[in-house]
This record gives sequence, structure tokens and C-alpha cells, in this order.
Amino acid sequence: MSPNCLQKTMSDMASQHTSHIVIIGGGIVGSALAYFLSTSEDGKKVTAIDRSFSRLNGSTGYAPGFVGQFNESEVLTRLAIDSVEEYSKVPEGFDHVGGLEIATSNAGVENLKMRLASAKERGLEAEMISSQQAMQMAPDLVKDDNILALHFPGDGTANPSTITAFFQSEARARGVHFLEGDVTGIRRVDDRVNGVMTSAGFVQAETVVLATGIWAKNLCDFDLPVPVIPVAHPYMYGEHHKPKTYKSPFVRFPEHHVYARDHGQFFGLGSYDHKPLAENPEDTALGNWKEDFDATLDRALQLIPANTNLVPREKFNGIFSVTPDNMPLVGEIPNVKGLYMAAAVWVTHAAGCAKFLTRMLKGERVDVTMQKALDPTRFQGRDMKSLERVSLHCYNSIYSTHERS
Ligand SMILES: Cc1cc2nc3c(=O)[nH]c(=O)nc-3n(C[C@H](O)[C@H](O)[C@H](O)COP(=O)(O)OP(=O)(O)OC[C@H]3O[C@@H](n4cnc5c(N)ncnc54)[C@H](O)[C@@H]3O)c2cc1C
Ligand SMILES: *[C@@H]1O[C@H](CO)[C@@H](O)[C@H](O)[C@H]1NC(C)=O
Ligand SMILES: *[C@@H]1O[C@H](CO)[C@@H](O)[C@H](O)[C@H]1NC(C)=O
Repeated sequence: MSPNCLQKTMSDMASQHTSHIVIIGGGIVGSALAYFLSTSEDGKKVTAIDRSFSRLNGSTGYAPGFVGQFNESEVLTRLAIDSVEEYSKVPEGFDHVGGLEIATSNAGVENLKMRLASAKERGLEAEMISSQQAMQMAPDLVKDDNILALHFPGDGTANPSTITAFFQSEARARGVHFLEGDVTGIRRVDDRVNGVMTSAGFVQAETVVLATGIWAKNLCDFDLPVPVIPVAHPYMYGEHHKPKTYKSPFVRFPEHHVYARDHGQFFGLGSYDHKPLAENPEDTALGNWKEDFDATLDRALQLIPANTNLVPREKFNGIFSVTPDNMPLVGEIPNVKGLYMAAAVWVTHAAGCAKFLTRMLKGERVDVTMQKALDPTRFQGRDMKSLERVSLHCYNSIYSTHERS
């Protein structure tokens, strides 16, 4: 073997096992982060690690991709606007079909009026439309017995798998190393991160980012409550249909905790109208089907016009996370130097959160309001049991602003 050849082999091996930044998790969040870090010109080596890159076993692989930019939280609204801008650059990544919120009661109308006012304050395009207009926009999903609807023309549907694959291939082309393996622990030397132990060997790193979604708690053995609570959620696909000649906005029924969309070849529908159920996922975000969920989907289907003939072809329990304040955990873990996290992030906010964290990792100045709102240490001093209880309570308020008794 020539010395040259030996040298090459050794440097190849070294590149397998040392990196400046390690990202654990290759769902939409970790992949977006790998992408944004790879566009930076500081020459830092980045390694992304997941149990599987070919198959998305996390929540991203099961997410139907509803993206509503307006949120009661101003920080989340900004992150969503930022994310939509990024997704729109991805070929086949985002469809600007718009979003509809349907009111079926007077209380629902009052709620939509308030949302319209705050959305406009934030500079988002939004308009109140009649039930008739809503039916024209989404004839397969909206019945004639509704009262009023709120239309967000700038919203739409993301294709989470396509976006994730795009971020990965762009990052790979710019030198990010993708390593398949199970991360079993984060190694520390004193109070600093030193690398990660994986089923594919040790990877040394001075910076480690946890982008492990519903598994975020697993690798967090430092003295901090990480209330990222995995929950069960029912979603269904209808029978295949011929693609429509029109594109319908996605539809939400806030009073009923139900949402639906046209996936192109079939309709999809999900509901939060059930008792919150914590999950303890192993290696997939696909949970066991719960008996209760049949009734939940049956109730939800009552909202869909009978002519649509929407019947479940496939029902599944897709797991994602909730937190005590419905906000993601994104930022630095100060008691372990070099450790960062980006968890409980929705598809809706993923690219925006990844950009925010990229700025933080590069030592750039970040928006202080955003930093505080996303700070992963904000639950310090509270006990996990009560944090879990509060988080589960938040589940039913998703897509709804009505408290349930
Ligand atoms: C049914 C359903 C409906 C949803 N609806 C919407 C919606 O309409 N709009 C919306 O915005 N969001 C929605 N979501 C939520 C959204 O899917 C998630 O919030 C988002 O995909 C999370 O992305 P992530 O990258 O953080 O996590 P994931 O996609 O779960 O990725 C985490 C990755 O980390 C890897 N990992 C974890 N631990 C380890 C380890 N120790 N070693 C190696 N790898 C590890 C996993 O393999 C996984 O690939 C929905 C989710 C589901 C399931
Ligand atoms: C992905 O999930 C499937 C079950 O849905 C499981 O059999 C498989 O082992 C998982 N793959 C990885 C790499 O975790
Ligand atoms: C606002 O965002 C949070 C976190 O993603 C989510 O739980 C909540 O449902 C959103 N609100 C609306 C009305 O979409």
C-alpha cells in the first residue's frame, strides 16, 4: 500500500468519527438544520445521524402537512411565515391552496372574528367569507349548514417527505455527512459535550443538537425537565378518487377539533376530539390504533358532505409531541456546554426554527423575544408529572380556542 493510499484511508476514518457539529435526528427539523448549516461558509463539519434516512420513521413520515401560518403566538406566526417561504423554494414541496376555518355556531363566528382581527394586525392576508363561498372553494369538504368561514389565501399544504429529502440532498451535496445509527448516549467531559455514542461507533463533536422529535426525552439525562410529551393522534385516508379539476383549500372546524384536506388522489381527515393519550414510542411514530378513535373519526366524518362519500381506506395513529405551553423547545441547554435542542417543532414551524437555531449556532445575534419563547430551559424547577398533565391538557386546544369543560 502506498503511503498516499494509507493516508487517505486514515483521513476517511477520521472523517467518519470527528465532526464539529452533530445533529441527532433526520426528520424535517434535523434535515432543515443540516441544510441551513451547510449553506454557511465557516467550514464547520456537520454530521447528521438517524436510525434511518431511507425511511422516515419519525412524525415527519406520517404528517399530512397542514400549514396554517396564523397562530395566537406571534413568535409562531413569524416562524411559520419563514417556513412557508423556505418550503415554497422546494420543488413540489408546498401547495398554496389556502386554508379555511369553518364556524358552525354563533360562538364559532365570534371566535373567527377575533382571529381575523389579530391575523390582519400581524399583516397576514385573511378574509371572512360566506358559507356559500366556502362551499364553492372546497365543495367536497364543506357542507351547506355552516355559518361563516375565515379564509387564509396564503396558507397551504406542505409535502413533509419531499421537503425533508430535498434538505438532505442539498446538505449532502454541500458536504454534510449522513450516518445511519442509533444514538445511545451523549458523552460529556466535565460540563462540555464531547460527542455521541452510536451503534455505528463514537462520533466526536464539540456541538450536539438534539432534533429527535417525540424521542427528545430519551437522551436528556441532564438535570432539566424536558416536557416533550408524545401523544396519540388519529388520521385517515379516504378511497382513491380521480384528481379534481380544482384545488381546494384545506379545511378546519375549530369547534369540532377536526381538519381535512384533499391529498390529490384521496381525501385525508384528522381529529383532536378525544381524550388525550400519552404514548411511549419505540422506533416509529406509528402507534397502535386506539379503540376510541373509531368513534372519534365517525363523529368527524359527520362534518363532511354526504356526496363526498368519504369512508376510511386507511386509519392510523400518528404520534407527535405536545408541550405545556404549546411552544417548541429550541435553543441552548446551558448546563451542558455545546448542547442544543430543537424538539416539539411542527412541520409548520420547522424551517423557521432551524434557521433560528442556525443563527444561534453561528454565534449571531438572535431575536430575544423568540429566544425566550422557545428557550428549552423555561420549565426549570417544575416537576415532570405536572408538566405532563398540563401538556396533555393542551392537546385538545389544538385548532380550537374554546376551552372544553
Ligand atoms: C398524524 C400527524 C399529523 C400531524 N399533523 C401536522 C400538521 O398538520 N401540521 C404540522 O405542522 N405538523 C403536523 N404534525 C406534526 C409534525 O409531523 C411533527 O411535529 C414534525 O414532523 C416533527 O419533526 P422532527 O424532525 O422534529 O421529528 P421526527 O420526524 O420524528 O424526526 C426525529 C428523528 O429522530 C430520529 N431519532 C430519534 N432518536 C434517535 C436516536 N437515539 N438515534 C438516532 N436517531 C434518532 C428518529 O428516527 C426520527 O427520524 C403531525 C404529526 C402526525 C404524526
Ligand atoms: C421503522 O419502523 C418500522 C415499524 O413501522 C420498524 O419495523 C423498523 O425497524 C423501523 N426502522 C428503524 C430504522 O428504526
Ligand atoms: C399554534 O401553534 C401551536 C404549536 O404548534 C399549536 O399547538 C396550535 O394548535 C396552533 N394554533 C392554531 C390555531 O393553529
